[in-house]
Amino acid sequence: MKFKKEIEKLNNTLSNIDDSNLIEKQHQKGKLGARERISLILDENSFTELDAFIESRFSSLDLDKKRFLGDSVITGFGKINGRTVYLYSQDFSKMGGSLGEMHGKKITKIIELGRKTGCPVIGIIDSGGARIQEGVSSLDGYASIFRSMVKASGVVPQISIMVGPSAGGACYAPGLSDFIFMTEGISQMYITGPEVIKRVTGEDVTFEGLGGATVHSTKSGCAHFVYENEQDCFNGVKNLFSYIPQNNTEDSIVNQESSEEVKNDNILEIIPEEQEKGYDIKAIIKEVFDDDTFFEVHAKFAINVVVGFARLNGSVVGIVGNQPKSMAGVLDIDSSDKIARFVRFCDAFNIPLINLVDTPGYLPGTNQEYQGIIRHGAKVLYAYAEATVPKISLILRKAFGGAYIALASRDLGYDCVIAWPCAQIAVMGAEQAVKIIFKKQLLESKNPAKLEKEKIQEIKDGFLDPFCAAKLGQIDMIIDPRETRSVLIRSLESLATKREGLITRKHGSMPL
Ligand code: HXC
Repeated sequence: MKFKKEIEKLNNTLSNIDDSNLIEKQHQKGKLGARERISLILDENSFTELDAFIESRFSSLDLDKKRFLGDSVITGFGKINGRTVYLYSQDFSKMGGSLGEMHGKKITKIIELGRKTGCPVIGIIDSGGARIQEGVSSLDGYASIFRSMVKASGVVPQISIMVGPSAGGACYAPGLSDFIFMTEGISQMYITGPEVIKRVTGEDVTFEGLGGATVHSTKSGCAHFVYENEQDCFNGVKNLFSYIPQNNTEDSIVNQESSEEVKNDNILEIIPEEQEKGYDIKAIIKEVFDDDTFFEVHAKFAINVVVGFARLNGSVVGIVGNQPKSMAGVLDIDSSDKIARFVRFCDAFNIPLINLVDTPGYLPGTNQEYQGIIRHGAKVLYAYAEATVPKISLILRKAFGGAYIALASRDLGYDCVIAWPCAQIAVMGAEQAVKIIFKKQLLESKNPAKLEKEKIQEIKDGFLDPFCAAKLGQIDMIIDPRETRSVLIRSLESLATKREGLITRKHGSMPL
């Protein structure tokens, strides 16, 4: 055989890359090996490895004794459901998956390749952060990754899968991703660990209590999806892929599995007649969109709004809905951030947006004002006003004040505004409005309670209903709720060819 010796050398080297003892160490920690993870997320036999022979150039401290081929990260490309992705998988069993100069170079190369070829980039993260022994070169490795991620932002989807620690500045690779998937029990993200926190603030906290999956999916909002184990987490990523395009030049996925079936028989039962009563917006989503296609994002964070992907007659859409059963569906700081982030992702990747509006407005109170509801709420306005994808707003019940402007006003740029006949559109609810505009009359009245009641009714009857807005051309259609699905399908189809150019500028100055 030609080149026998050389081929033998190659095979010997390759067979020494993986060490079953180290993989066993991972298993003992309740985690999979870096290569096992790749094989679980990619289509069978589709992985091609790059840079398998890269090693650290450093020998400082004890590094010369710890050098590994591949430098504790496996990188390459493969397929998910037949679509090419670039990915890296950090190997905690080797130097804690810590990121040194060459490890960083490998990841940067993957992100750059993903951007140039228009393919999504996936990071499987299990790392002790910057490799201490490589000093500033480790930090520069991160800098290079972050810069390439920012360049790829809005060009290709970037996904981080957390399956181990992500300590210190390492959190900013997931932080700069479009979606973060976390796995319960084994993944933690934190800027400074429990020991430093104890020294600096005296606080006692565990790794899990500081940056575990529950914390990031419910409190900080950093994690978009949480799964019980790694296999489920990888399946979740594959599911997400069925909703998102490869890159910003592709149209969103249209009519994948068309299902024009008429539904909506139960829709009238869902919304209570009493304006103040809550209901589950997800019940409306279930009635209107294709069966079992709603894929919720940020399901446990800021639950007063619901965002996620679904299919409507087979076409992928992004849904933003107020959740009336949680805080009446108000917009507050966290829900504003949640909406703005989702809207910008959908707009960057050409996914049409459908709003389901039922909200009394932005949440009042000193807490919200002090934390900056003005700048957070402004992000929602900015994101929608800037978005050029088809934007449809359906007003189900209340659309008051700033929340109407943000979620339903034609003049903010909605292409199609639809209302149910029970919709109420106004600067504020009738009860609050009467207290302001009839303040004097109520003070002077002999029977203020009666007068107040009459005026509230007067406003409700003649001022709030959707016909007032429809007369001004601000509402395109008032529809029987049972027709919602078919009207949305037709409206979406009519907007499918929408093209709107961007203003020439370096970039806007979003109120971040
Ligand atoms: C070098 C590291 C390392 C690191 C872990 N290891 N982190 N080596 N640099 N940052 C090595 C350990 O020495 C050990 O090597 C092996 O990885 C496994 O680590 P253990 O500590 O035994 O594992 P475990 O008990 O599971 O604890 C995991 C851990 C802990 C919680 C992540 O290792 C830890 O706290 N590491 C440091 C985290 C951190 O502070 N990172 C730097 C943050 S600053 P041996 O040879 O014994 O097996 C930062 C700045 C980046 O990241 C800025 C970018 C902008």
